[in-house]
Amino acid sequence: MILITGGAGYIGSHSAIKFLEDNREVVIFDNLETGHIETVETLKTIGRVEFVKGDLRNIDEIRSVFEKYKIDAVIHFAANALVGESVTNPAKYYRNNTFGTLNLLDCMIEHDVKKIVFSSTCATYGEPKYTPIDENHPQNPINPYGMSKLGVEKIMADYDRAYGLKSIKLRYFNVAGADNKARIGEWHDIETHLIPNILKSTFDKNKKFKIFGNDYDTPDGTCIRDYVNIEDLADAHRLALLYLEKENKSDVFNLGTQQGDSVKNVFDTCERVLGAKIDVEVVERREGDPKELYANSKKAKEILGWSPKRTLEDSIKTAYEWEKKLNKDVLNV
Ligand code: UFG
Repeated sequence: MILITGGAGYIGSHSAIKFLEDNREVVIFDNLETGHIETVETLKTIGRVEFVKGDLRNIDEIRSVFEKYKIDAVIHFAANALVGESVTNPAKYYRNNTFGTLNLLDCMIEHDVKKIVFSSTCATYGEPKYTPIDENHPQNPINPYGMSKLGVEKIMADYDRAYGLKSIKLRYFNVAGADNKARIGEWHDIETHLIPNILKSTFDKNKKFKIFGNDYDTPDGTCIRDYVNIEDLADAHRLALLYLEKENKSDVFNLGTQQGDSVKNVFDTCERVLGAKIDVEVVERREGDPKELYANSKKAKEILGWSPKRTLEDSIKTAYEWEKKLNKDVLNV
């Protein structure tokens, strides 16, 4: 069985679908702080899913999963992921993301489970020294979120040396879109991300979309990011586990499209895809936003055989279909 921590959340649940489609059995461990039980219920309609509500900060809760199920490998997503919140409440990030992972790894070693795919982030690089960013770019996070994930990467390297625990660290760039059948999608009670915020502003006139700064040193003055489609990203987890099972080697990969899109370009693409004018205003810069981040992901292509297949338009279309469903069927607004 595969243990998926954080499988009720956005990236965890879309990745779970890929494993279920491969007929693999999955146990989801999630504290449901930001994930949703409705998402788990949907996954149960797709394949064999067990669910355990629990928190990684409590070692007994995660240990009980290893005692109850025969776990072969772990795909680890469970974490807090709001950069701004990590600055005001760093302890939450180090406790949950870093020490929570330490509990998980210790349970793995206790039960002789030696394979893990870890959800890391381009936030471990900090302010880019050059773009596109490759895996050898220096890692100097500028916020506790990035630091909490970098800490885990280092711990995993030490656990490989000490115990032979093999890990694949996947450093995501900006993840976007939803399941192409709108079964699941991005569902955050506090939404900070660009595409869902643009789309939400079309449903709720009180949520006027705001561009955070148009005076950056970029061609149109807005920040540039690398938007990788959620299903492409989910595929990478499948390939990463296959690689671990075959090669039994630790490694790290960037996951991005290698293409930078500005906030303005994403906004214009949303208007085009929706065929509608969307209200927008430009406000102050958001603190801590680097002007330009995009990936060099050649390594993932060469070694994992992964390359993104879906476009920014695909991400916007699927995100919109999901957003409609979330508003109508789930939130009843
Ligand atoms: N933006 C807006 N308006 C919004 C939301 C975002 O203009 O309402 C802009 C941001 O200022 C930024 C870009 O859109 O320039 C992308 O912002 P997101 O919040 O969507 O994504 P981030 O690049 O801030 O964050 C992502 C991941 C984090 C990760 C980080 C690494 O979501 O988990 O990249 O830099 F840590």
